[in-house]
Amino acid sequence: MRFDIVTIFPEFFGVLDVSLLGKARRDGVLELGVHDLRQWTHDRHRTVDDTPYGGGAGMVMKPEPWGEAFDALLGPDEDAAGTSDAVVVFTTPAGTPFTQSLARELAAERRIVFACGRYEGIDARVVEHVATRARVLEVSLGDYVLNGGEVAAMAMIEAIGRLVPGVVGNPESLVEESHESGLLEHPSYTKPRVWRGLEVPGVLHGGNHAAVAAWRREQALERTRRVRPDLLPDGDGAERTASRQP
Ligand code: ADE
Repeated sequence: MRFDIVTIFPEFFGVLDVSLLGKARRDGVLELGVHDLRQWTHDRHRTVDDTPYGGGAGMVMKPEPWGEAFDALLGPDEDAAGTSDAVVVFTTPAGTPFTQSLARELAAERRIVFACGRYEGIDARVVEHVATRARVLEVSLGDYVLNGGEVAAMAMIEAIGRLVPGVVGNPESLVEESHESGLLEHPSYTKPRVWRGLEVPGVLHGGNHAAVAAWRREQALERTRRVRPDLLPDGDGAERTASRQP
């Protein structure tokens, strides 16, 4: 799978060299192209922003460099035979929320191009135009405002990338995680059995696998009810029924 990123801060993405994603790149499982938007400017100051039509505070990213960036990454407009097979993700606080299920869906794609906005965002015609050439998503990392889309893109790349086969060594470790089952993950413990007077719950070292599974499920439900009741369907009735089934 290939990720392309268009940004005015390419240096942000150096961290994708480390850890599991870095290894996946070295192994050829993931490819990454980081592109400086300013290479598609033509003035002395390499300008990427301008004042907003209609007035107001802040600056808006100009459409021209973005248009050239997408011509370079998706193929020139006039040559575009139908639509590109890349998915284009615009990171924006005004987008649909990024979720584990969207990460899973995007992990099955061949190529994703991330467009990282800054300032008050990108001229709205850019999304409209790119949507004629590729599948476009406007995605928010969460209900808060970052200084730009770079950190959001990085978080999305990590969440998507680790779901690509071959990136995480033991794929079973992906199955029991928070959000994969629709619930938050159960608490985990390791040795020693007693630490600073605190004991690991007895069921976890009793050797009864069915009892461990039931305990974990109950803990996941309890934590979800307490911390994230919004994740449970209809006040959690359906989940509780499911947990009682053999
Ligand atoms: N850019 C600024 N804030 C953002 C957010 N919450 N998600 C995605 N991109 C952003």
